[in-house]
Amino acid sequence: MKPDEIGAVFDATAADFAALSPKLWDPIGAATVRALDVRPGERVLDVCCGAGASAIPAAVAAGPEGAVDAIDLAGSLLEHGRRLADARELANLRFIRADATVWEPGVRYDAALCVHGVFFLPDMDASVKRLIGLVRPGGRFAVTTWAKGALEEYGKALYAAVERVRGAGVETPSSRESATRIDTEQALAGWLTGLGLADVRVTRVPFAVPLTPELAWLIVMGTGFRGLLTGMDADAVSAVREDLVASLERDGVDEVEASILTGVGRRP
Ligand SMILES: C[S@@+](CC[C@H](N)C(=O)[O-])C[C@H]1O[C@@H](n2cnc3c(N)ncnc32)[C@H](O)[C@@H]1O
Repeated sequence: MKPDEIGAVFDATAADFAALSPKLWDPIGAATVRALDVRPGERVLDVCCGAGASAIPAAVAAGPEGAVDAIDLAGSLLEHGRRLADARELANLRFIRADATVWEPGVRYDAALCVHGVFFLPDMDASVKRLIGLVRPGGRFAVTTWAKGALEEYGKALYAAVERVRGAGVETPSSRESATRIDTEQALAGWLTGLGLADVRVTRVPFAVPLTPELAWLIVMGTGFRGLLTGMDADAVSAVREDLVASLERDGVDEVEASILTGVGRRP
């Protein structure tokens, strides 16, 4: 998918993305900010920030003397993030509609993070290398991604449901291939080191979302999985929902494995 298509998919998720946040995005964002160890007064970049799951705790940690630039392509998610930041009177947090592959602030950050975003960037290696260059020498850079096996069983059930309803195979998105390249501690550490970071440490946070039929569907509607439904009419979408919920129930899938890896390194 091209950046504008990715932005459109996530734009469409807005209400569902927000509903899913307390179960999925918020705890992962908070864990990433803890791993990055954002300190008072720091200037921070949040890449692919969505609705602020990590940008908000980063702004709290940076405090009034610090500042957070949070960038994303999906205007509706940014709008949601702005409302959350306003409610918490976080004047040090700016949500900016921008493409991470070209964002150029003109200043260097003390720290940057990207949570479940790098694998959407068209040339993941070149894009992240460029983003690391937006951090000052000595600054930190964190990437959070899905650990091997995360969303796998659930994803297989969803793809099978979509294929049954469409009556045709569904192509695996390039984001899946990119995510697979960095889904172990060793692979993520090696990748970040190869892109120029020093002292890289990877932390695994075991995580699972207990499933109800409602949540099983919210995970489609409030994540990038929603892109699989592009072009389907309402009846077809309902059929996918019924098929997915029935197959998860039949196979006794009562939680979604969603463990994450966070790699943090220092720009030499
Ligand atoms: C899975 S969501 C994660 C959002 C957020 N980091 C979180 O954890 O809640 C991925 C986000 O990446 C954004 N994104 C994808 N490609 C992008 C790009 N080239 N520039 C900026 N944002 C991008 C999408 O719009 C989406 O909001």
